[in-house]
Amino acid sequence: MNFKERVVKSLQTILQDKLDGQTIEKLIERPKYSHLGDYAFPAFSLAKIEKRAPQQIALDLAKELQGDDFAKVEAVGPYVNFFIKHDELTSAVVSTILSKGNQYASQSESKGNVTIDMSSPNIAKPMSMGHLRSTVIGNSISLILDKVGFDPIKINHLGDWGTQFGKLIVAYKKWGSEDEVRQDPINNLLKYYVEFHEEAEKHPELDDEARLWFKKLEDNDEEALKLWRWFREESLKEFQRVYDILGVTFDSYNGEAFYNDKMDAIVEELKEKDLLKESQGAQIVDLDDLDLSPALIQKSDGATLYMTRDLAAAIYRKNTYNFAESLYVVGNEQSEHFKQLKAVLGKMGYDWSDDIRHIPFGLITSGGKKLSTRKGNIILLEEVLSDAVRLAKAQIDEKNPNLPNKEQVAHEVGVGAVIFHDLRNDRLDNFDFNLEEVVRFEGDTGPYVQYTNARAQSILRKANHTVDATPSQLELTDDYSFEVAKELLKFNEIVQRAAEKYEPSIIAKYAINLAQLFNKYYANQRILDEDKHLNARLALVEATSVVLTESLRLLGVNAPKEM
Ligand code: ARG
Repeated sequence: MNFKERVVKSLQTILQDKLDGQTIEKLIERPKYSHLGDYAFPAFSLAKIEKRAPQQIALDLAKELQGDDFAKVEAVGPYVNFFIKHDELTSAVVSTILSKGNQYASQSESKGNVTIDMSSPNIAKPMSMGHLRSTVIGNSISLILDKVGFDPIKINHLGDWGTQFGKLIVAYKKWGSEDEVRQDPINNLLKYYVEFHEEAEKHPELDDEARLWFKKLEDNDEEALKLWRWFREESLKEFQRVYDILGVTFDSYNGEAFYNDKMDAIVEELKEKDLLKESQGAQIVDLDDLDLSPALIQKSDGATLYMTRDLAAAIYRKNTYNFAESLYVVGNEQSEHFKQLKAVLGKMGYDWSDDIRHIPFGLITSGGKKLSTRKGNIILLEEVLSDAVRLAKAQIDEKNPNLPNKEQVAHEVGVGAVIFHDLRNDRLDNFDFNLEEVVRFEGDTGPYVQYTNARAQSILRKANHTVDATPSQLELTDDYSFEVAKELLKFNEIVQRAAEKYEPSIIAKYAINLAQLFNKYYANQRILDEDKHLNARLALVEATSVVLTESLRLLGVNAPKEM
């Protein structure tokens, strides 16, 4: 059913000695408007070769191609426009989708492992909106990459190590209570930490105490380790609540602490490779030649840093997973850090440093301002999600009061709305968050796509008809079904492009578009009429539902069959 190939072949037969198939294929475009055909061939390159006006060449080509297997071939200016036969395209696409189901547009060829560093919040601190974005974007990228043949490995690189844990231990021992930590771990640990900083201004000896405790921690002191482990577990429990609501899982929670015993080897290796330099008592790797600020490897007191642990993590991931690509879904503001990371690994002689990619993203704003993440964002986050569920439930109560399992559906719609909203903008764009808008059943929203899919499912239930998927039984000739079928045909390319660009928004925008075209079809065609095209119309409805459901799945959003 490769219609593009057919266009290439037709052109190739008459252009043999001028352009080869590959060149022709690259030149072929998809016109934006359907009155300009389904494929278009621009005659500019031929104009150079033949030294004739491209308009004239287009006219000649269109005339010559008239007899070929197209509904119409037409010259418009310097373009030759090809129109595929409606019935042929519709039946080909629909029968493919019905036979492949959710494997439609999947690639089976195995492309190797991809590690995805995602979410990665810091222990004893609130999860920020940035961590939430990283979680949702990383999860979608993992689903998209899986579909095109990669094996994704989702890694939560927890911020669970560093001098701040020395401070936290001192603060807890001085002012903390076990009950407080159990009841509300993150907010209370944060409170101790803030208190430490206030006190340390008046009593600088507290800093020495904290250094001592971090040293103890690094040296595996029982008491220090026990407290650290407890802080980590309690924090993680809270993070887990959010992950459960979002339906996101991880393959590894190896955070920064995991690399503690791998630090010496890194510092040693950098020394051996003659890359370390002293600067004000600290050890650095100079990156001046690459126009980057120096990478900080070790402080004057011997403590290692964020960068050192990322170097160890990168090498560990290569050795453990032998990744084809290694992604880091982390906010825009850490761009410099990941450039440095790549650069140092490159200088160490690891050619796979080219396979490391920082996948940055923009900020979530509120009323145009950066959302403050200072206080208890987990709670904020859970509040946002439960408010979304509540709003979704209110709309369902209004539209479909007798729906069974309302709670479950409201959860899928509310949470799905928040995720969809996060993913529908280009990931680098900042976007404003307005809950009412997020959960609307109309407009560019997740609920709109879900609702359209539920509508398709309800038509199928009403029809109560087993679709015959024989291609000859799937032919439709009207323009509305043709627009839907063409959009369904595009899904392959869309998934491919989203994977290449690590850009879930490509799928989200596509899903909205497909839903809109389907709703036009629904508004203009009497789908359930008992005539000879009933089977074909229902088959198109089913195929659309397959692709809408799969699009939503790739974003990490569920598609209820009824809502
Ligand atoms: N914990 C870090 C932060 O909150 C993000 C870690 C990202 N991953 C990494 N391998 N550096 O800023």
